[in-house]
Amino acid sequence: YPTFYGVCVDIKKAAEIVHKYGKILMIDEAHGSHLNFCSKLPPAAERSGADIVAQSTHKTLPAMTQSSVLHVCSDRVDLDKLSRMLRMLQTTSPSYILMASVQNAVEYMDKYGEERLCKNIDIFRIKTKELRELGVHVLTDDFLKENGCYAFDETRAVISLNDVGITGKELEIILREKYKIQMEMSDLMYVVGYITAADEPEDIARLFDSVKEIYLDAKKNGNQSSKVYIEEFPHLTQEISMKNAFYSDNELVTTEESIGRISSDFIIPYPPGIPLICPGEIIKEETIEYAKSILQNGINVNGIEDNKLRVVV
Ligand SMILES: Cc1ncc(COP(=O)(O)O)c(C=O)c1O
Repeated sequence: YPTFYGVCVDIKKAAEIVHKYGKILMIDEAHGSHLNFCSKLPPAAERSGADIVAQSTHKTLPAMTQSSVLHVCSDRVDLDKLSRMLRMLQTTSPSYILMASVQNAVEYMDKYGEERLCKNIDIFRIKTKELRELGVHVLTDDFLKENGCYAFDETRAVISLNDVGITGKELEIILREKYKIQMEMSDLMYVVGYITAADEPEDIARLFDSVKEIYLDAKKNGNQSSKVYIEEFPHLTQEISMKNAFYSDNELVTTEESIGRISSDFIIPYPPGIPLICPGEIIKEETIEYAKSILQNGINVNGIEDNKLRVVV
């Protein structure tokens, strides 16, 4: 919460349902540590009824990589049990540099987060509106809400120029090489940029103005057609449990030979990291075709190497 693309669900509602059944709600807020610091953003999970919230502060706050925070937000959580679990998983030698970096980031956001993020969101709104009016597919709060989404995190520049024949990966490369702008990630359709409190409004304007230039150039050159068509996501049947498939005897076969077999591994386009195939599922031809089109467009697919993947023997 939110997703890589800034899409937010209604945590309050989820918390009500979970609590009605006497359970606790844990939220992976890896991409949302900044939400608490700006009144123009969707509500932070810590303030929306979640009981435990995990954050990767290094993703959206000015904290060093590998610095994370686990918030306990209600008295429904058994702190003693939580401590015992953490003792099993954590190092006994914490890094004081990383902890100081988290503290520093939080102090920075406390002081400047509201003002700096609000300023950046204001320019984000102006520029995305301009691009949408021009015909560029860029995610905005209005657009997502009209399409059934609860809320949108307007620190995400999610842009697709697929309509003028440019894939997300290609757009990422053009922005880096020609405009010296590094995006957070790209997939088949979209590039995603993270707008943080450390950015300046001019940086955000420059990103959207560069996209506008690329779009208009492509149109001028007659690029009118989509390059990528995403078919409906193929639904797979779970034949055996994930655990049994993962630990079973397995063999490496070519993607063609894998059709109809049970996968022993995860096949995950990364980014965004959502599995196409999970262990135990029967592999379909459409899924393999889909994975291949992703690979052909220069996107990494974890679990397929040299056109081979692992299936249950
Ligand atoms: C949704 C989600 N949760 C958790 C993580 C892991 O975060 P970390 O970088 O702190 O290991 C990621 C990493 O990208 C993520 O996308």
